[in-house]
Amino acid sequence: MSGPIAVLGGTGPEGFGLALRWAQSGETVIIGSRDALRAQAAAAKIRQKITDAKVSGEENSAACALSGIIVLTIPFEGHAALLKQIKSAIPPGSIVIDTTVPLAASVGGRATRTLGVWQGSAAEETAELVPPGVSVVAAFHNVSSALLNADAPIECDVIVCSDDHAASEKVQALAAKIPGIRALDGGKLENARIVEQITALLIGLNIRHKGHSGIRITGLPAAAYHTD
Ligand SMILES: NC(=O)c1ccc[n+]([C@@H]2O[C@H](COP(=O)([O-])OP(=O)(O)OC[C@H]3O[C@@H](n4cnc5c(N)ncnc54)[C@H](OP(=O)(O)O)[C@@H]3O)[C@@H](O)[C@H]2O)c1
Repeated sequence: MSGPIAVLGGTGPEGFGLALRWAQSGETVIIGSRDALRAQAAAAKIRQKITDAKVSGEENSAACALSGIIVLTIPFEGHAALLKQIKSAIPPGSIVIDTTVPLAASVGGRATRTLGVWQGSAAEETAELVPPGVSVVAAFHNVSSALLNADAPIECDVIVCSDDHAASEKVQALAAKIPGIRALDGGKLENARIVEQITALLIGLNIRHKGHSGIRITGLPAAAYHTD
């Protein structure tokens, strides 16, 4: 993948885990935060684990301005406000990957329920808020941060949804860089409505059975599964 990947909210477990895994695979990563010092501290933590990691930390808008691939890993409660704040910093032609699950927990409700989003999904809300010419791709909703931050390969499929086929393929390649993950073309961005909902079910399974569940899609031809 050419150019750095900005992981906004990369100080939290999901973004940190993705940043760590991509740094391990040799990608250049910029961790974004509302606070540049917090981002730099998270980047330093990754460099402690991987000495040759190409990772740095910046305030969210600064991270965006330096990247062609921008990953949103922030809670739904801050989703729209952050997108409005970073809008002018998103470079034309870039890809925004949205991992956001609109969990009711983000506004004080249960983690096993989702909120209704006017646009249909968090990812479709993102598509309304990014500048024209920026592609939105929904992915990684069903990958547990606990697994991303552990050392083992991740037994999980990543369903990638976008209205831009080329952008979807780039994100599938990026997902497949994480050992164990298989990426699948999940069709249009509106399918993020379904993929986001699955996470609420997985959280319920995790609570009930005390684990870190993920999904595997079976029965498709080998060519459907993108692996590294
Ligand atoms: N955790 C998982 O296992 C998992 C799995 C799949 C998908 N996801 C999705 O990934 C996203 C991140 O999950 P997480 O568990 O890492 O979340 P989190 O720890 O609650 O938040 C991640 C980071 O977002 C920033 N943040 C918090 N509130 C914000 C706000 N109101 N506005 C802007 N930034 C804010 C914080 O960074 P700074 O304070 O440094 O700015 C925080 O470290 C969520 O949308 C979640 O649904 C999570």
